[in-house]
Amino acid sequence: SNNIVRNLDTSSKVYAVIGDPIAHSKSPLMHNAALQEMEVNGVYTAFHVKPEQLEHAVAGIRALGLGGVNVTIPHKEQVMAYLDEIDESTRVIGAVNTIVHCEGKLYGYNTDGLGYVRSLQEEMQADIPSSRIVIIGAGGAARGIAYALLAEGCKELTIANRTVERAHALAEDLSGFGKVRSVMLNDTPAIPPQDVDIVIQTTSVGMHPHIDEMPVAKEWLQSHMLVSDIIYNPLETALLQAAKAQGCRIHNGLGMFVHQGAIAFELWTGMKAPTELMRQKVLETLN
Ligand code: ATR
Repeated sequence: SNNIVRNLDTSSKVYAVIGDPIAHSKSPLMHNAALQEMEVNGVYTAFHVKPEQLEHAVAGIRALGLGGVNVTIPHKEQVMAYLDEIDESTRVIGAVNTIVHCEGKLYGYNTDGLGYVRSLQEEMQADIPSSRIVIIGAGGAARGIAYALLAEGCKELTIANRTVERAHALAEDLSGFGKVRSVMLNDTPAIPPQDVDIVIQTTSVGMHPHIDEMPVAKEWLQSHMLVSDIIYNPLETALLQAAKAQGCRIHNGLGMFVHQGAIAFELWTGMKAPTELMRQKVLETLN
């Protein structure tokens, strides 16, 4: 059923994800299911684009009239230079994961952070304005999530990163949007656990092949915390397993992936995306 041939014709829209590597992307499967379900005359594919070809690839979006493109590692930052307009929040985040092609212009958005926050709200009923949140990591993913949380009115945000300078830089960039501070990852145990409602893990620690590693000690996790990890393969990282053992509510990264895609779908088609179908499609490829 992944391979149902739709009636593509000269007015079909082409969507794609570009990245390097790209072979393991689950975006084509997820988006084609959505396009088909919503009866959009369109198809979503993947293009392997090397960094030295990025500028040409973006020119190709214009030349071929693609409807929209998702951008993934390692192009999220560099691609910004080749777009016509970048919205305010995306400029602050400094990374684009979604390009909309409209009337000859390319618009850059970042749907990762908003997708993450939607997932946390819908799946965990998180109340962001009453939450004191610790984000582990200060890379691209953390930037998008931190911005979206502050935009949603997060009560208090702490950014904990191995390279503390990077945490400081992110906190500085976001200082105008809410209450935010930064600490060294090694100093996380010094934060009183009772002052933390939600922990969000955004680093690659816990991802294959480092599936046994955790960025914070198990003892720091306490049962009142909601512990979230943006990794979804594995669905339960060592951190989430430890959190569950401590009695915490846990949340993985599958919903973030689904919702970043759903928001992109909505930007491209103007239709509400079938998120449960999309989630199911991705889940089928895991395990
Ligand atoms: P992404 O776009 O996925 O966020 P990134 O921008 O390369 O990727 O950021 C990776 C994040 O994972 C950073 O916060 C990084 O910490 P440093 O800034 O100190 O490099 C963090 N990270 C990666 N490996 C880590 C490890 N072994 N321990 C702790 N943090 C790690």
